[in-house]
Amino acid sequence: MENRLLVEAANLFGTPIYVYDLPFIAQRVKTVQDFFEDFDFRLAYAMKANFNKDLLSLLNKLGTMVDVVSFGEYLQALSVGFSPERIIVNGNCKKESELERYVKDGVYSINLDSYEELLRLEKIASRQVRVSIRVNPDVDPKTHPHIATGLKENKFGVDFDTAHEMIKRINSNKNLELIGLHCHIGSQITEVEPYLEAVVSIKYFAKSVGLNFEVLNLGGGWGIDYGNGKAMSLQEYREKIFPILKELNSKIVLELGRWIVAPAAYLVSKVEYVKRTPFKTFVMIDTGMNHLIRPALYGAKHKILPLYETKGREKIKADVVGPICESSDTFRKSYTMPRPREGELVVICDVGAYGYAMASDYNLMPKPKEIIWDGSKLFTSS
Ligand code: LLP
Repeated sequence: MENRLLVEAANLFGTPIYVYDLPFIAQRVKTVQDFFEDFDFRLAYAMKANFNKDLLSLLNKLGTMVDVVSFGEYLQALSVGFSPERIIVNGNCKKESELERYVKDGVYSINLDSYEELLRLEKIASRQVRVSIRVNPDVDPKTHPHIATGLKENKFGVDFDTAHEMIKRINSNKNLELIGLHCHIGSQITEVEPYLEAVVSIKYFAKSVGLNFEVLNLGGGWGIDYGNGKAMSLQEYREKIFPILKELNSKIVLELGRWIVAPAAYLVSKVEYVKRTPFKTFVMIDTGMNHLIRPALYGAKHKILPLYETKGREKIKADVVGPICESSDTFRKSYTMPRPREGELVVICDVGAYGYAMASDYNLMPKPKEIIWDGSKLFTSS
């Protein structure tokens, strides 16, 4: 998105603000759909990444499906127009009352996270319901440990032996229809190899138990380049994963979140002042870890770019920090940037996924506004 639009948004709506580029998101959806054109493919956007209603309405209009992990997300998806048959229900702790509602509404699939959840569902499945089993293939996704989910020590999914037991149980229940397997091994994955390990083990498992499934849901996880040059290579994915998917010959579902929306949003912030101590320089900006917790929680490094005139400015090395009363409220350490003046603007990039969605009003500093760019105008999100 052009800098001039970000500056215009800040002038119109103040700072700090999240600005969402909807045309970019539409382009991302098209790219992934084109990528899988040789398959019977469905994108189920992982709305945990960003549940903004304008953004969801766009995806609804584009005809994607949606993956929800809570009842709150389910209601939000319905409220923007997703019909239950376009909703996939994930989450590792579904309540009985929630399951009842999913059964009644007829969602696309309830993805069972455990044997215990199957027992729970059996009790209330008074009519036909489509289910999938979330398998945990025990692979290392080589990402931050907080967002690795497919290792055997993680709380998610079931091992293949348990999956086999579940298949037998599901097949003996006339109200439960097993549509397939689900597998989400982690997030911000920038190598293809972990996916390869996962699909190969799923293939062997299916073969060994004689399972022919309608849907293979490979979850999300595609990593984007936050500035270190590493991202999921679609070319390599095509070369290594497509042949196995072709062999499996099932419908493919991906629950991408970050890859669809992360690069589509910007956190625009104002420099309050530059503080100098005998040891360091701090650029104090008017947004903090309560608005974007990824650096504090995962050590994530987001690019921070100046929205001011940089010609002839001295370069400084500074910690870029926010107003929250914690030292973890640091976006970047020893970051090289042209020295800003009080009141000038900076933009933190690639914040569309797990940015606003994880924001809070910690320290009673309110959340920022969300501003939409629809390709022709800027407006406050409803
Ligand atoms: N499907 C399931 C079952 C998931 O648990 C997740 C993410 C996704 C799909 C979407 O993954 P994605 O394509 O966005 O990588 N807050 C962390 C990320 C947590 C991811 C949780 N699950 C962060 O800021 O990096």
